[in-house]
Amino acid sequence: MDLEQIRNRYLKFFERQGHVIIPSASLIPENDPTTLFTGAGMQPILPYLLGAVHPEGKRLVNSQKCFRAEDMDEVGDNRHTTFFEMLGNWSLGDYFKNEQLEWFFTFLTDDLGLSPERLFVTVFAGESKLNLPKDTDSVTIWKELFKKKGIEAKDIEIGTVENGSEVGMQGGRIFYYGGKKNWWSRVRAPENMPVGEPGGPDSEVFFEFKDVAHDPKYGKECHPNCDCGRFLEIGNSVFMQYIKKPDGQFGQLPQRNVDFGGGLERIATVLANTPDIFKVDVLAKSISILEKRSGTSYEKSSDDLKRPFRIIADHIRAAVFMGADGVVPGNKDRGYILRRLVRRALFNAKRIGLTDTEWLPALVDLYADTYRDFYAEIDEHQEEIRSMLIDEAEKFYKTLEAGLKQFERLARKENTLTAADIFDLYQSYGFPEELSIELAQERNVPVDRKELAVHKEKHRELSRVASEVKFKGGLVDTSEMSVKYHTATHLLNQALRQVLGMHIYQKGSNITPERLRFDFPHDKKMSPEEIATVEEIVNQKIKEGLPVGNTSMNLKDAYVAGVVGVFGERYPEVVTVYRIGNPEVGFFSQEICGGPHVKNTSELGQKFKIIKEEAISQGVRRIKAVLV
Ligand code: ALA
Repeated sequence: MDLEQIRNRYLKFFERQGHVIIPSASLIPENDPTTLFTGAGMQPILPYLLGAVHPEGKRLVNSQKCFRAEDMDEVGDNRHTTFFEMLGNWSLGDYFKNEQLEWFFTFLTDDLGLSPERLFVTVFAGESKLNLPKDTDSVTIWKELFKKKGIEAKDIEIGTVENGSEVGMQGGRIFYYGGKKNWWSRVRAPENMPVGEPGGPDSEVFFEFKDVAHDPKYGKECHPNCDCGRFLEIGNSVFMQYIKKPDGQFGQLPQRNVDFGGGLERIATVLANTPDIFKVDVLAKSISILEKRSGTSYEKSSDDLKRPFRIIADHIRAAVFMGADGVVPGNKDRGYILRRLVRRALFNAKRIGLTDTEWLPALVDLYADTYRDFYAEIDEHQEEIRSMLIDEAEKFYKTLEAGLKQFERLARKENTLTAADIFDLYQSYGFPEELSIELAQERNVPVDRKELAVHKEKHRELSRVASEVKFKGGLVDTSEMSVKYHTATHLLNQALRQVLGMHIYQKGSNITPERLRFDFPHDKKMSPEEIATVEEIVNQKIKEGLPVGNTSMNLKDAYVAGVVGVFGERYPEVVTVYRIGNPEVGFFSQEICGGPHVKNTSELGQKFKIIKEEAISQGVRRIKAVLV
């Protein structure tokens, strides 16, 4: 079964259980300053897990595009990728453990036909310090489910992962793991969660590859959370019912939710009964293109030489999806991650003997063909993505050879790689720092880490990645000031449309309690007069004290009514629209948005001021503004 078939089966299965299929949100999170990329299906759902009413109801299902920058260095083994699709279903205060575990189990066994003999599950062992109970309910449910398949499922208190490596499976099928292993929140460990963050115990399902022998390198004994590759996690049901309180303890959320996430590619991999995710569907096709063009066989390559194939296949797919959501290569944030992906792919292409960049457009087209039906944004932007990536690749390719030579020279000179060397390789040859370090490690050239630490501050700014979640008072930041900035962003968007033209729309937004940031397409610098006029309009609307309200609308009606959306975002059929103004005289602003907002623009109180207007890439401008 290919990815598309499995994705469809999953969506249909949950549709039959009363779920509404919603589209994948963009890889670029909206109004969420805590992360650079969407890395879990629940991120765009967060306000609804906290209690906001979702316009499509209490049962939702989708396949969400995800990118995890923190996994970039892991790519190269047989199961890690940076980009993946997360199959997700949610209960927003509706069904709970019974239905969730039964449905997922039924989907895997009866619908997809996986043998229940090969499935193993884990559950939360509890955390007495935090008054979080052991999840015995899930164990009871799992036992019953396995029993129906004629399997006596024994539960084992395995404790920590380290303990698991000591004691092994002990004939068990259900395993209680402690600590952060079976707890899920965006920050993972319960003790590290900030106040206001939701989370809960989870139950993971693992598939056992019978043919993979345990590798003692990873521990004496094997168990589901062992890293040897015998077990692959294929789905996680999170029972999101807790919220962190100011006293450090956990309280109950207003509703008990289910947040399920399962890796589409991983499910495809176990169905194909191979432990190598790169042997399945589009990633396999991608590798086959690379084999043909390089004349190097993937299958016959040692595990070490398989790595470059996997890195290229993964990174270019991620780059294509990023391009489709409007990311352009650059030196900061998302642009930097995209740049790193392309450069890393190129660098690895050399290792399998690819001597030009011709393979790149071939891969872009393969991905576009595979994903265009389900992800229209790829279809719409294929040409742009292709030329953008080729451009980026060719720029780097020109200096790659020279950079590699320089690397050898520098390494030979001191027999160690210094921070100055790394900086030079970046400045003169465009080698991202991580690439130089990787190269050094590979060739056993020591890196002067002490000196490097001094440069680290600078580096941190550059390679700030999605994993380094920067919390500012809660998850989706809903502090009073951020809410004000959110409403101010809507006023700004509309004012820009009036002053610069209707081609303006939100291409990116980032709000903190200190300021708003807004990206929009416009091909020239704004004049001081234009800036002053925009400020004046926003300040006028604050002074008028306009009501802010929301309503549900059919997407089609919303477009007819001139409601504004976000670039590249695909919306469900019914959307929430925030409107600012009096209906009698016509709304000043109408935007598809999940909120939250102030109730009246007079609450913004202060004066709105644009403090910066600059270009961030060709044809894209960025405004930073404050309420002073
Ligand atoms: N949010 C859960 C995860 O990402 C389902 O694993």
